[in-house]
Amino acid sequence: MSDTASPPIRLADYCPPAWTITDVALVFDLERESSAVEATLALRCDDPGATLRLDGEDLELLAIELDGRALAAEDFAQDGSGLTVHAARGLAACTLRTRVRVHPAANTRLEGLYTSGSLLLTQCEAEGFRRITFFVDRPDVQARWRTTLRAERAQYPVLLAGGDRMAECDLGDGRHEAEWHNPHPTPCYLFALAAGPMARVSKAITGADGRAIELNVWVEGEDAEPCRYALGAVERALRWDESRFGRCYDLGVFNVVAAQDFTMGAMENKGLNIFNARYILADERTATDADFMGIESVVGHEYFHNWSGNRVTLRDWFQLSLKEGLTVFRDQEFTADLHSRDLKRIDDVRLLRARQFAEDAGALAHLVRPAEYREINNFYTLTIYEKGAEIVRMLHSRLGEAAFRAGMDRYFADNDGRSATLEDFYAAHSAATGIDCTDMLAWYAQAGTPVLDVERSFDPSTGGYTLVLRQRPPANVPDAAPLPIPFRLALYAADGRALPPPDAHDADPIPGGLLLRHATHTLRWQGLDAEPLPVLNRGFAAPIRLRMPMRPEERARIVQVESDGFARWDALQHLALDVLLARAGESVDGLGDVDAAEAALSAALGALLADTQAHPAFVAECLALPDFDTLADAVAVVDPGALAAARERLGLSLATAHREALQQRVDALRAAARGGLDDAAMAARSFRHAALAWLSRVDGGAAARRLWADAGSMTERMAALRALLHAKAEGAAPAREAFAAEFADHALVTDKWLAVVATRPAADALDDVEALVAGPYWHPTNPNRVRAIVGSLARLNPAAFHRDDGAGYRFVAAQVQALDAINPQVAARLLGAFEGLPRWTVAARGAAIAALAPMRSAALSRDVAELLGRLPA
Ligand code: PHE
Ligand code: ZN
Repeated sequence: MSDTASPPIRLADYCPPAWTITDVALVFDLERESSAVEATLALRCDDPGATLRLDGEDLELLAIELDGRALAAEDFAQDGSGLTVHAARGLAACTLRTRVRVHPAANTRLEGLYTSGSLLLTQCEAEGFRRITFFVDRPDVQARWRTTLRAERAQYPVLLAGGDRMAECDLGDGRHEAEWHNPHPTPCYLFALAAGPMARVSKAITGADGRAIELNVWVEGEDAEPCRYALGAVERALRWDESRFGRCYDLGVFNVVAAQDFTMGAMENKGLNIFNARYILADERTATDADFMGIESVVGHEYFHNWSGNRVTLRDWFQLSLKEGLTVFRDQEFTADLHSRDLKRIDDVRLLRARQFAEDAGALAHLVRPAEYREINNFYTLTIYEKGAEIVRMLHSRLGEAAFRAGMDRYFADNDGRSATLEDFYAAHSAATGIDCTDMLAWYAQAGTPVLDVERSFDPSTGGYTLVLRQRPPANVPDAAPLPIPFRLALYAADGRALPPPDAHDADPIPGGLLLRHATHTLRWQGLDAEPLPVLNRGFAAPIRLRMPMRPEERARIVQVESDGFARWDALQHLALDVLLARAGESVDGLGDVDAAEAALSAALGALLADTQAHPAFVAECLALPDFDTLADAVAVVDPGALAAARERLGLSLATAHREALQQRVDALRAAARGGLDDAAMAARSFRHAALAWLSRVDGGAAARRLWADAGSMTERMAALRALLHAKAEGAAPAREAFAAEFADHALVTDKWLAVVATRPAADALDDVEALVAGPYWHPTNPNRVRAIVGSLARLNPAAFHRDDGAGYRFVAAQVQALDAINPQVAARLLGAFEGLPRWTVAARGAAIAALAPMRSAALSRDVAELLGRLPA
């Protein structure tokens, strides 16, 4: 717990390090309760006379020597955040050796060296290495690493660290030792070790450059079979990076370890990735299709960091999106290339609109490159990751694939082994392509989502058609300058033909579109026979809010004539959103009569259901109505009850109207849904399960009970269980009990049913959650469990979280405070559920502010204190 008054760290204050570390030798004597760490650092001073200051937290210093001489008490000073070595003053270089003691089993923050089950693990990003030993803990200090691990062989048979394995030997006293060497200059946030009883699946491959590489995926215990799918994903990722980006792997071994206790998704440590077990362990008995897809994408993400993050790392943490935005872009492309590009884009845009737009409009909004922070852990956000990826995608759209690839090659070549900035990234692309794209940097320096207002006019006498595009600053950044926006559009004639691009415009042409740079652009067409149908921001080429009133029948027609799958889905979502907003009492331009609009929506969905050629997974995406967060993002004042009710009512009415068609297609796809993990079988399941969610609103749970009785895979079982529990249908309770009992000793599957209970869309789901937190399933030190129960309620259950009596707010606030003493990052993330508070109704705001009040006078971590300070009091 730390003082909240410490000044923020500012980007403007960046200075290169006075002292850097070129080589590190670490020796660990590993034990659960107390481990000893000896560090020998080769230090170099680049600023003669500068004080040698090392970071270090919660370290018990046992010994310290400089250039072979033990230091006296007056030669150094230790305080709460580190160590100052007075004796090094005036030296140009020196060797510092320290020996410290740390306490892994007591480390519930899961930062630094900690225990998970019978394993010892590390997590160092962003600033966890200073909890392992004294070091210059900043990413622009890159060293070569030698790591020696020593431990009891019986308790810790496997000893892994980053890099290549050099030697292994027996120490004779029941202990053994392994030595690892990472020759690539690497910052300390990428250091890792893992020790304990682990099994692995393994594959030897040859890289495109001829290198022999051993791929291993490890898990605690004796059975590594559930790692098989992840191992395949590692190989696919490696091959994809070779072919799409020309990037080869650079060590003889790539190790991945699955951990039951892990705060984030996974971590790209050099040569030794450590993963949250939920992104590794999977077989058809225990994992859903979504789990498999998530595993492949996260495995890809961490693997791709080996170049975008590790070989080229960050100058400072303000550049975080340089590695994260770029690597998310790369993992999105990986999934798009391997599966369906349209479906991937739909999923990504759904997340962006529902969550990142809300973050960017809420109390916790921040720049993609923040100007300051108090706790960097608070910046692992959708804005840094997803908006950051959108900016890279815009660059890609602007340059086209070939030029973008040339820019990437240049970026990797110019910055290999270095710590880079966003400026370096755009400079490399500009230099390689001759196109100055440094104006993209403006996207990193402006919070909020830009709005593009579109005005259209058609003159029947001349056939002239005009679109005026006006970029408006985000509501929360009223004085913002226009940003460069790659823009794609299509116009369709009455007969469904696509019309040529505009005859005149004042924007720059880019591959397949235009680059908008000014506050206003005008596009003109001539000689059209009739008013065309415009489809704008095709493929969602820019992360903006497009505002153009459209009639319901126009949106419905896009679904028929458009070839771009994303644009078809988007048109239906917009129509549904308009209907929902109108039903919730909002005024919606261009919608007209709301019953007629709903009829148009219903007819469009009906046509999709009747179209046996339509891709089942695409239809499933269309069946999913805009979620609560998307609705909340679209209104000025959020009345949670009204929005949730509008959604429920529309769902009920559409389900009633299409019950037969849904049931027919559910039955028709039964056999296809029984296939394995190929895309066709997954698509069939995703349709059936989306349809089931609708049907269970009107059939008393009959379809869900049938699926439950006959479910083959975990995907089917979860879909049936969710439908039963959420509808409180007959058979729900026994199904839950049987399921819970069958998987009582499987933590990841237990998390799944707990999340289903916590997301039942009803106010009294809070009572169920309170019972869970008071019972045997509650493990507050396990981040997955906390997220499954409390996170699901706070983030995915508006009916319970926004209860009228404020009990949902009070519950979450109390949990944040209690969890802060255990794992501040987990607590701070939960607090994010309050980010939308400024736009809630007066009553909701008052209740939430009152719920947060007790926390304001408590002792809090820097993580929670920083976020709480940004929420209205
Ligand atoms: N760098 C990790 C990733 O995005 C995320 C992470 C951050 C993990 C901080 C742990 C701690 O892949
Ligand atoms: Zn990442």
